[in-house]
Amino acid sequence: MNIQHNISLRPLHTLHLDVAARFFYRWENADKLDELLAHAQEYERVIWLGSGSNTIFLKDITDGLIVQIATNGIQVIDEDEYVRIRVSAGNNWHQFVQYTLSQSWFGLENLSLIPGTVGAAPVQNIGAYGVEVKDYIVSVSGVNTLTQERFVMSNDECQFSYRNSIFKQLPHLLITKVEFRLSKQFNPHIDYGDIARIAQTIADSEKLNANHISQAVIQIRQSKLPDPDKIGNVGSFFHNPIVPADYAKQLLQKYPNLPHYPQSDGKVKIAAAWLIEQAGLKGKKCGAMAVHQQQALVLINTGKAIAQDVIDLKNLIQSTVLERFGIELISEPRFIT
Ligand code: EPU
Repeated sequence: MNIQHNISLRPLHTLHLDVAARFFYRWENADKLDELLAHAQEYERVIWLGSGSNTIFLKDITDGLIVQIATNGIQVIDEDEYVRIRVSAGNNWHQFVQYTLSQSWFGLENLSLIPGTVGAAPVQNIGAYGVEVKDYIVSVSGVNTLTQERFVMSNDECQFSYRNSIFKQLPHLLITKVEFRLSKQFNPHIDYGDIARIAQTIADSEKLNANHISQAVIQIRQSKLPDPDKIGNVGSFFHNPIVPADYAKQLLQKYPNLPHYPQSDGKVKIAAAWLIEQAGLKGKKCGAMAVHQQQALVLINTGKAIAQDVIDLKNLIQSTVLERFGIELISEPRFIT
């Protein structure tokens, strides 16, 4: 096994903290999984990593092996008016979405430009602009890294919900492949925010197609969200909280402008970015970490942030929002300590 030693983790996670890994392996060949699992027994722990867009390394990792999942490949399993495809976990998510559009396979266009890998997408059930990835997943395959048993889980077994799944709860379940079912018929999802208007402007006199939606999403994301290659960030740092209906009603009486989204179970999702902004925290800094000016749900590394800056800003936001609105914000990224 080609294990690398003492490498910087700064380019391997998108918050770009300056920490290092003692042992690192880039896993590209899917056939080497058994060998890798056997070798992994020699370490105190193994940290499986995609492209590091939702993982924050808070310190040097000296006791474990970091494995970057970089297996590639897209396989068509079945085709009629839908296509079923099995996709390796290491594929870059955005490139995969663009590939599906180039094949006229529809459904994932609203999820354009989300950082990360295909294998990470089911873990927190990535979602944006009115679409969640769970709606296109047939099954998820992988290996239980504790028992080395392979699994294939149906969509139901994955227990998907807003920003959650069984894989978030049980991190020893390693995802190696995801099976998607995409339509050959374009069915636009344009109810969210400005998406319809922007997509129509891009379409101009042409009939609206999935590429227009993808471009609209890319445009919106680029205007609000910092490019992680330029400014360190992990996208949304907190979940949008979901509160009981009666509590949402009380809040809305006091704050009629509060952006809120009723859920099918009667609860109400609240925009965390709005809570953070109204609490006066936009632009707030702790050391070199700051609340992003264009999107208060995003925390940025302005240059030389250290782990303590991240913790301090996270704690400040959580305590301020709790005190002001009585709502506990749950952080989204995985912290590795
Ligand atoms: N808002 C503010 N202040 C801000 C930003 C937003 O008041 O600084 C308000 C907006 O006016 C809007 C509401 O908050 O009414 C929601 O804002 P936005 O549409 O930007 O979405 P979000 O709820 O903040 C979620 C996802 C994003 C996803 C967008 C678009 C979560 C935790 N985040 O953000 O996902 O791109 O919706 O669908 O659900 C990510 O996970 O990294 C991510 C970027």
